[in-house]
Amino acid sequence: MSLTVFAHRGASGYEPENTLKAFATALEQGATSFELDVYNVEDQLVVFHDENLKRLTEIDKAIADTSLNELSGLTVRGERIPTLIDVLALLKGCEVNIELKGPNTYQPLIDLYPSLEQEFGFTPSELLISSFDHQALLQVRQALPNVRIAPLYHEFPDTFNQVIDALQPDAIHVSLNMLKQNPKKLEQLQAITKVHVFTVNEKDDINTVLDLGLAGIFCDYPDKALEWIKAY
Ligand code: G3P
Ligand code: CA
Repeated sequence: MSLTVFAHRGASGYEPENTLKAFATALEQGATSFELDVYNVEDQLVVFHDENLKRLTEIDKAIADTSLNELSGLTVRGERIPTLIDVLALLKGCEVNIELKGPNTYQPLIDLYPSLEQEFGFTPSELLISSFDHQALLQVRQALPNVRIAPLYHEFPDTFNQVIDALQPDAIHVSLNMLKQNPKKLEQLQAITKVHVFTVNEKDDINTVLDLGLAGIFCDYPDKALEWIKAY
């Protein structure tokens, strides 16, 4: 039974999310696929989940209004906020799902991509770019046709067919709520493209994903997920 386990923001159930410590811990737990979130800050990609810094750093400020210099002085539970380059240097040879957040995030990624291949040795099949902003994914597809893309959904759209026609996605990332609402629909979708479900932290839900033959999950506890899959 093959199910991809994306360590969601690293091993974020154990360590501060989206930090080098969270990714290193996931690696130690046996993860080979990883998910992270990026924002554009002064044309650099910074690994961080929220639009506002408050939940994670206690500074009440939008990340869009923050400089790289300011961010470099902040920590998330004692761990610094990494750039995408910092994380990819650690995850060479792994599958990395980069979720584009906030405005104008696709262009720095497109600009950075040649160095990811040349300096870090990433191949297009190791990178998977996702976003709730499907227009951003179209830009990535046009600029980097070999790099995989996956639109994100919290709810079922009227039809997936139009999305599939427009984007030709390599995968579709759907919420756990969608799995609970209509598992059959996801099973049908899996026949067309890979379905990855976020965020799946419970054994029963992983078993449902396995029963349906879906392609992957995002999990905050990669060690537990890998254990449960082995026991399935
Ligand atoms: O990429 C799957 C999942 O991470 C999307 O939601 O809010 O955790 O970034 P969120
Ligand atoms: Ca995410």
